Amino acid sequence: MGRLTWWMFRARLAMEDPKSRAWDARHGVETAAETALGDAGVAGDAVARGNGVYRVTWGGLIGKALGALDIADPGLWTFVDYGSGKGKAMLMAADYPFARIVGVEFAPQLHAVAVRNCAAYRSPDQACRALEPVLGDVLDYEPPAGPLVVFMCNPFDEATLSAVFDRWRVRVAGGQTDLRVLYLNMREVAESRGVLDAQTWLKPVARARQFVVLAPV
Ligand SMILES: C[S@@+](CC[C@H](N)C(=O)[O-])C[C@H]1O[C@@H](n2cnc3c(N)ncnc32)[C@H](O)[C@@H]1O
Repeated sequence: MGRLTWWMFRARLAMEDPKSRAWDARHGVETAAETALGDAGVAGDAVARGNGVYRVTWGGLIGKALGALDIADPGLWTFVDYGSGKGKAMLMAADYPFARIVGVEFAPQLHAVAVRNCAAYRSPDQACRALEPVLGDVLDYEPPAGPLVVFMCNPFDEATLSAVFDRWRVRVAGGQTDLRVLYLNMREVAESRGVLDAQTWLKPVARARQFVVLAPV
């Protein structure tokens, strides 16, 4: 990433921070504070595998990505956030009537905050109350059978990202074809072009600079 891109990203982070804090205050939760993974109970090379830091995903971006999902009846689908941090995407997804919402997070201290947030969340629009924060590595996580929306906001290194795509590819090849992948990056999804372009078994159903929605071809 160039210096200018990095500088613009830092400026945008500073602009978004008060919005994230206001969203937290409105909903009785805490998701906004940035946290180094090393300070959140993640050890050794897992810190680098997890891109080093927890940063809340901007609410406006999560809202746009969720709004681009092309599924008719969310009540038949499970939503899973791979790398769920303090649970912001889980909580925003809860305004849709998904069957279940799961968040998988390997930093124990972030998971503990997500558990508190899921219990404390207040929203007049909440339509799903089956919120399940799970402590663990996405590489060890087996998603439930049935229609599945997976969500990620640039959470891991390329090796981990390739591994999770591979699991979903096998699942779809085995006949579970109801899958949507929501992939977000607060700078641009093109940063993960290598891994995304290799998923020739998926096609975009919606695409913007900072998110893409993918479905099996
Ligand atoms: C961008 S942050 C989370 C954003 C979150 N989805 C949200 O809605 O605000 C990415 C998260 O992925 C987690 N993570 C990274 N690698 C992981 C792994 N292998 N297993 C589980 N969680 C992981 C990090 O600890 C971090 O909290």
